[in-house]
Amino acid sequence: MAVKKDLSINYLGVKCENPFFLSSSPVGSNYEMVKKSYEAGWGGVFYKTIGIFIADECSPRFDITNKEGTPWLGFKNMEQISDKALDINLENIFKLKRDYPDKVMVATIMGSCDEEWETLAKLVTDAGADLIECNFSCPQMTSHSMGSDVGTNPELVERYSRAVSGATHLPVIAKMTPNVTSMEVPALAALKGGAKGISAINTVKSITNIDFENMTGMPVVNGKSSISGYSGAAVKPIGLRFIANLAQHPEISKYDLSGIGGIETWRDAVEYILVGSRNIQVTTAIMQYGYRIVEDMISGTSHFMDEKGFKTIDEFVGLALPNMIPADNVDRDYKVVAKINDKKCIGCGRCYVSCYDAAHQAIDWDAKKRRPKVDNEKCVGCHLCLNVCPVADCIVPGDVMWKKGREPHDVKLKKFYE
Ligand SMILES: Cc1cc2nc3c(=O)[nH]c(=O)nc-3n(C[C@H](O)[C@H](O)[C@H](O)COP(=O)(O)O)c2cc1C
Ligand code: SF4
Ligand code: SF4
Repeated sequence: MAVKKDLSINYLGVKCENPFFLSSSPVGSNYEMVKKSYEAGWGGVFYKTIGIFIADECSPRFDITNKEGTPWLGFKNMEQISDKALDINLENIFKLKRDYPDKVMVATIMGSCDEEWETLAKLVTDAGADLIECNFSCPQMTSHSMGSDVGTNPELVERYSRAVSGATHLPVIAKMTPNVTSMEVPALAALKGGAKGISAINTVKSITNIDFENMTGMPVVNGKSSISGYSGAAVKPIGLRFIANLAQHPEISKYDLSGIGGIETWRDAVEYILVGSRNIQVTTAIMQYGYRIVEDMISGTSHFMDEKGFKTIDEFVGLALPNMIPADNVDRDYKVVAKINDKKCIGCGRCYVSCYDAAHQAIDWDAKKRRPKVDNEKCVGCHLCLNVCPVADCIVPGDVMWKKGREPHDVKLKKFYE
């Protein structure tokens, strides 16, 4: 039965019917597209980045990574900001806000100097945007005065955040690049410059594949290619890491965070919320499946809330953060040996091969019966076997065994793997 929950959030003072937004990209780049996405159920849009600079795009501009028959593990694009004229984009923003006043319009902008940032901030404010996002993070701009070259320079991030904040009454969000060691440094600079929220991540600089025909990367543009942004499922772990880092920072955690990167399902969205995002943004999954994926996000998040007893999204923003601890604080007193369910086992031998070739040779193989058996003394409890086994719940965490000289105590284990 369909479960209905209140998924509304207050994001930077703006009421949103749900936290699920299109992220700035082609998925929200004109009136018709955004209209369709609103009607599908998205709470708002970070409109495709607009600038004074009009992008001159190459063709082709996309590539994907695959593994074992699974396409779109990751997605590479060489696209810059909007290739439409500024007045057309401003008109789209105006009309979308006029026709859909309850949906949230975030104008994403990018300038190359104080004056351009200020001009853009004023124009999108006049066009009726609810919020402004500064794109400090596109890794494939042809000009070094824009994009991630700015986002990796804290002085410029602070300066342009100040220019934008001074030119509008709207809350300003700074969109961060993951192409840095520590995102806290540019994020703090943005907040110092007047930004009221941080969004992350933009795409990760990448080479996805090398083409043997032209001896260059993919996509091939007249025999050449460039390093450019990677997104989609493959970058979710990177996005979660950066959001958790920001949310655990005592100063940055006071501000609203918007999580982006590899979100495809309700589960991905909830994971980002649990590490501190109040708002959620999506591009690549929409490029692959269309706007309808929001239905899964709405219904899956509602069921999750029902099961866990949450009445509002706010109740679980950042709930996992206290349990994300430094490596030196992790309990290293015990091992959880692998337990194999003989009845579920199909005798494929993958656990045996992986444990022998890549773990601790702790699995014996009965070649006649085609069944593995774990030697608890040799097993170090790494759970490589559990992760390679193709059968659900066939290898599960078994006994807890204490290391020599360590004091046994209560431990919390993960019992169920879906
Ligand atoms: C084709 C494409 C174009 C993009 N254009 C922009 C853009 O104009 N402005 C921006 O801030 N981010 C842009 N992005 C980055 C996305 O908004 C998002 O930060 C990134 O793709 C990670 O999210 P995802 O894994 O859901 O795609 C673009 C991404 C893609 C794939
Ligand atoms: S948990 Fe690690 S060491 Fe133990 S049987 Fe599995 S792969 Fe081998
Ligand atoms: S990987 Fe799983 S199914 Fe295959 S042999 Fe090992 S326990 Fe059995």
